[in-house]
Amino acid sequence: MAANLDAMAAYTASRNLQLWPHTKTHKTPELAREQLQRGARGVTVATLHEAETMASVAENILIAYPPVGEPKLKRLAAVAERARITIALDSLDTLAGVIASGARVSVLVEIDAGMHRVGVTSPEQAVAIAQAVDRAPSLEYAGILFYPGHIREDVSAQQPAIDKTRWRLEQFIEALQAAGLPPRRVSGGSTPTATHSHLMEGVTEIRPGTYIFNDRTTAAIGACKWSDCAYTIMATVVSTAISGQVAVDAGSKALSREDIRGANAPGFGALLDRPDVVVKALSEEHGLLDVSKTDWRPRIGDRVRIVPNHVCVSVNLQPRLWLMQNSELIGSYEVAARGW
Ligand SMILES: Cc1ncc(COP(=O)(O)O)c(C=O)c1O
Repeated sequence: MAANLDAMAAYTASRNLQLWPHTKTHKTPELAREQLQRGARGVTVATLHEAETMASVAENILIAYPPVGEPKLKRLAAVAERARITIALDSLDTLAGVIASGARVSVLVEIDAGMHRVGVTSPEQAVAIAQAVDRAPSLEYAGILFYPGHIREDVSAQQPAIDKTRWRLEQFIEALQAAGLPPRRVSGGSTPTATHSHLMEGVTEIRPGTYIFNDRTTAAIGACKWSDCAYTIMATVVSTAISGQVAVDAGSKALSREDIRGANAPGFGALLDRPDVVVKALSEEHGLLDVSKTDWRPRIGDRVRIVPNHVCVSVNLQPRLWLMQNSELIGSYEVAARGW
């Protein structure tokens, strides 16, 4: 984990990019502090609960999620009294709610750079929202935000998608410049694309999250080495009764039932020490390891460490992270911002 944090800090520093790590991956204030101590400019969150939790360690927080509904807007206004908050939004309706709440925050206009999840789809819409933000006395217009979450191909094959994103960004940046609202911040980035961020001209900061731990998906698309996977579920063998498989006490309630996106790799996780042994099936509390292609035969009570397909969802299922160094347990942190 320390090596992953150092590598991303070094990449962003060398490319003059600000690092705003997405803390949805670890949901743990002590780990946000580690990221800030290594030079992160601020932290990113998705939920109000994450923002409230991270405000205990971070002065600058980016809520990369549209704040909608009165309860959330009240909490937004309150947390903005404790930290410098930036929000991302993509509609005049959401903006009206933020203005009515009285929250004093900076605003990034979210654009759809190809993922088709949220974000305005035309430069004209981005300009209209930026102008409305600029007119609101309680708000500061800061720029634009996009999430390249659609780029999931192998890292070696990303260039065409990176180029497409760059051209799309250019259109938005030029339109905002022409309207007298050049974006001071252009927030992008994900773990799969992280080290290509400098190729997307105009980007000033990135928000990778998964990189702190990495996972089976990140390794499958070449965005990390298997040895960079820093998070595992430690599970115990509970049954070897059925030939060709081994049951462990980590099921969907520990690993999550997420497929690998971007690569053809079946199963729900793999053993850290034996990546050829895959979790082939899950019940809530059972994971079934496929041992049909290996001579390895564990005994009841043996322990194995499983790298999940998608670490962020697995972390959210754990109350606590146990810290290991050279196979020694050296402490633990509460996953304080989980749930909600
Ligand atoms: C808006 C936003 N930004 C950044 C990230 C971080 O991406 P990754 O987990 O690939 O590092 C996410 C991940 O879901 C996201 O939704």
